[in-house]
Amino acid sequence: MIQNETIANILTRVTVRNFTDEPVSDRSLRLLLQAAMAAPSSMNLQPWHFIVIRDESLKRILKDSLPYARMINRGCAGIVVCGDTSLYEHINRTDREDNTLYWVQDCSAASENLLLAAHAIGLGAVWTGVWPLQSRVDRLRGLLDIPGHVVPLNLILVGHPVSLPLPKEKWDEKKLHYDRF
Ligand SMILES: Cc1cc2nc3c(=O)[nH]c(=O)nc-3n(C[C@H](O)[C@H](O)[C@H](O)COP(=O)(O)O)c2cc1C
Repeated sequence: MIQNETIANILTRVTVRNFTDEPVSDRSLRLLLQAAMAAPSSMNLQPWHFIVIRDESLKRILKDSLPYARMINRGCAGIVVCGDTSLYEHINRTDREDNTLYWVQDCSAASENLLLAAHAIGLGAVWTGVWPLQSRVDRLRGLLDIPGHVVPLNLILVGHPVSLPLPKEKWDEKKLHYDRF
């Protein structure tokens, strides 16, 4: 029996790919985006941008042109989580190590926050992968006018779930290592 609501939300989140036709309210979307922007980020650069997609004709175009996003329907909204890669250009690096890919981790943390927030308020969501697949990046860049220094990491679809799948069993002692790998 899980006592803590936050932990229970994390342990019961599942990917949802079937949505009802009921639209996601603007209020809910804002809450999800607020949760996303609360994520940690390297040097607190907050490199994320979010393209919210609600327009039905644009959704149809995305559905027809992105094979991995065929689950788009009338009710769901799309959120493309993007990273601004230009932020790293002017940073003085004392250790001379490459930090330019931190946007990926920052935007992934934001994405997970968004998925968890969706689950917490009774919505369902699926992360569909875009970066690092160049063909998917290019396709979205063209369709959504994304500038060159901004990279779409994923397209998250969020909506009211038709049903909630059971969470997958993922706990695995073999993945645990103590003190040494
Ligand atoms: C980086 C990444 C890319 C993913 N890409 C897709 C995708 O293109 N299409 C899809 O249906 N699900 C995609 N998923 C969702 C995974 O399939 C899903 O998280 C995984 O099967 C585990 O299921 P769960 O989320 O219900 O625990 C992706 C998830 C991640 C983290």
